[in-house]
Parts: sequence; structure tokens; C-alpha cells
Amino acid sequence: MSYPDTAADARSPAKPLRIEVRALRSGELSTMLNLMCGSFGMAPDRAHPLFYGDPYFNLQFKRGLFVGGKLVSCLTVSEGMVWLRSRLMPIAGIAGVCTDEQFRGRGYASRLLLETLKFLHRKNYPFVGLYADPSLVPFYQRLGWQPIGQQMRMAVFSRSIPRHSGANAAASLQPSHLPAIESLHREMTTGLSGRFYRDGKRWDWVAKQVQGFVVKLGSGELTGYALYRLHHNSTGDEIVEITEMMARNEQAEIALWSRLASVGGAVGIQYAGPLEDAVRLIQSLHRVGVEDEAAITAHQTTGMLIRVVSLSQAVSATLANSSSVHHPFAITSRDWAQGSNESVTIKPDGSGLRVIAGKHAADWIEGRLDMITLLLTGNLSVHSAQSRQLLSASSQGAFEQAAALYPWERFGVSTADRF
Ligand SMILES: CC(C)(COP(=O)(O)OP(=O)(O)OC[C@H]1O[C@@H](n2cnc3c(N)ncnc32)[C@H](O)[C@@H]1OP(=O)(O)O)[C@@H](O)C(=O)NCCC(=O)NCCS
Repeated sequence: MSYPDTAADARSPAKPLRIEVRALRSGELSTMLNLMCGSFGMAPDRAHPLFYGDPYFNLQFKRGLFVGGKLVSCLTVSEGMVWLRSRLMPIAGIAGVCTDEQFRGRGYASRLLLETLKFLHRKNYPFVGLYADPSLVPFYQRLGWQPIGQQMRMAVFSRSIPRHSGANAAASLQPSHLPAIESLHREMTTGLSGRFYRDGKRWDWVAKQVQGFVVKLGSGELTGYALYRLHHNSTGDEIVEITEMMARNEQAEIALWSRLASVGGAVGIQYAGPLEDAVRLIQSLHRVGVEDEAAITAHQTTGMLIRVVSLSQAVSATLANSSSVHHPFAITSRDWAQGSNESVTIKPDGSGLRVIAGKHAADWIEGRLDMITLLLTGNLSVHSAQSRQLLSASSQGAFEQAAALYPWERFGVSTADRF
């Protein structure tokens, strides 16, 4: 997409510069990587293999905004499948949004994001998600993204984890364990709204990046696994970075934590991921006997945000996935031009059909595809009032589940606030 409007040229303010938003060409990739390294403070030698080694690398998904032919803003689109109740739904992701420092504050990243939405709309995506530093959440909210969850980093001192004799039950990960790990992962994530589906290509990539431990029953059945990477922190200490840990029972938890706590000369174990998973890991540390509260630290890192790309696709995806839902739920929309919010409520009418409050969805959607719209069920943040409303509207049991997961939070939405 090219724009007829102009950007000021610092050397000759009167001269209009053409603004163009498009996919990158292969010869422009190293400029993009340099722009990203400069913006995110990444070392080029570390970033290079990650950038080019992405198993889903696709030139079409490297999007840039060019001013007078110079790349000043860029981002990467990714494609994934996410569980929405019992079905998988395609979702787009956006990462690595950045603008050359000298060109910031001129609306270029906003423009690139909005053009990218049109690109994703043509590809029929219902939703697009991203992770953002908390300071940038308002920036994305202005463009219609809504916070739906948080990422958290938790850390524990290795020495605070009791060593159990049960640790022997955990063996080092071997390539032959991978099919069983995949199957346990599938079993524990299938149908959990908001969880990503991992296909074979992604598993191959994961397997190349990590080490791990597995716990098996005498029968050979896998009851748990922990995948991790080793790295050194800023003071040079070795740290075990858990990338994923799943355990069917307490014995598996005990064995995995004991083994992780004994890795090499590591002084600490860290995990960064969805708040819910970090909370589960902290709860399991308590179960395995970490009693010193000060041994565990946790803080919020990035916010997870999601936005409707196409309301019609979002409604269809939601309806297709809601046959077992017997409670009303809502999709809210934000119109950034008007600065107003609107909601679509979807409720069962008792006959197996689901009714969209007000007009028929198609009428309501007609002509409104560029309006910013948002979100529904699943992995909702418990900290925002709007998410609480959606949470209460989307599932009867959601509040009980959330209350169990976040015992320090107080839950409750008055009847008047419900959709
Ligand atoms: C965030 C970033 C992409 C914005 O690019 P941009 O082209 O300047 O964006 P726009 O001009 O469309 O919007 C600018 C708005 O971004 C927001 N913003 C940018 N940096 C911010 C920061 N550190 N904290 C809070 N808000 C910030 C502000 O709301 C700003 O509006 P203002 O100029 O009125 O203050 C750019 O600052 C950047 O590259 N930062 C470093 C990399 C990064 O953190 N990327 C985000 C990854 S999620």
C-alpha cells in the first residue's frame, strides 16, 4: 500500500517523501535485522540464527514501512492454531514491532500495524495477538488491542528445593521420549482455550533447542516432563530456564524439581510464561516443600493482547466453537475513530441456535471491517474489569477456576455488570 501523503524530509522540509507499506524483499532482510537489533538491543550474532532459523520463516510475513525508500518501521507476522474450547482456530501473531529511533513518534508503527490488519483481513484471520511490555499496552489499546492476560517471570533458588529420593524417577531426555512428550502435551492442552497447538515442525524446532527430564511409570507411561535451557545471568551465574513443565501427579513434580535443582552448577531456576502457568509452578514448588517464601520471586513481564481482525470471522469462529456453551458470552469492539466501545452478546436461545443480540451478525458486521473489535473467551486477565465481565459471561465455572488459581484475588461481578 502506498500513501499519497507525505513525510517531512529533514534536509528539505518541502519535499514530499513517499510512504510505502509492504512485505520485505529478500535483499532488504539484513536491513530489517539491523533495525530490530538496534531497537531491541539484541546482539546481531545471537539474533541472526533466530531470525533466519525460524521454522516458519516467510518473506510475506516480514512487513515494513518505507519512507522515501528507507525502511523505518518493521514487524513480523506469525501464524498459529489456538484452542478455542474444543476446536482449533487459526490466529495470527505480531512480533518485533519497531521503528528506527530517529523516526519515532511520527505514527509509523501505528500505520504499519493498521496496514498489517488489512493484510491479515485479506487472509481471513479472526484474531491477531501479541505480547507487549506493560508500558506499551496503552499504545496497542489505542489501536484496538485488548489485554487478555499477563506473562510472568518467576525464579527460585535451586538450593531451596528439597532433594527427594524420588528424584531418581526422572531420567534425562532422549530423542526416543519425544513422541510420549508430544502426546502428554496434547493430552494436557487439548480443548484448553487460549493454548497453542504445536505441530510437528514446531516440535522439531523445540527439540533442537532444549534439554530435559522425563518421569515414567514402571509401565513406561510418561507422567511428566520438564524442558529447559541453560544460560548465564548478568553476574555470570548459571541458570536453568524452564521452557515447559508438565506433570500428571505429585510424584512427577517432586522428581522433576529435584532433578532441575541439581543441574550442573546452576544456582537458580526460572520460568517466563503465562501468569497461570507461573502460578501453577509456584503452587507445585510449595507442594514439593519449598517453605521459604523469600526463595521464590515473581513479577509481571509482558501483557498478552488480542484484537479482532475480522468481526465476521471472529463471530463464525466463535459460533462454530460454542455448540457446547450454554451461557451467554460477548465479543466487545472498540472503534478507535470514535473512541467508543460496543459489545456483541451471543447467547443460546434454547433451540440449539445462538442469537446475536440486536441485529443479525452479518448486518451488524457489514461495512465495519476496519472498526476495531475485540475479544471473547479464554485466557482472560483477572485484573481488568472488562476481562472480569467477559470471564463471568463466558463460562459459569470460570470464576471458580480463577478463584482457585489466584487465591489472593477477590472475585465477583455484580449482576448489573453481567452481559
Ligand atoms: C514502540 C515503537 C515501535 C513505536 O514506534 P513509533 O513509530 O514511534 O510509533 P507511533 O509513532 O505510531 O506511536 C508512538 C507512540 O508509541 C508509544 N510509545 C513508544 N515508546 C513507548 C514507551 N517506551 N513507553 C510508552 N509508550 C511508548 C507512545 O504512546 C507514543 O506516542 P507519543 O509519540 O504520542 O508519545 C518504537 O518506540 C520502538 O521501536 N521501540 C523499541 C522497540 C519496542 O519496544 N517495540 C515494541 C515491541 S511490543
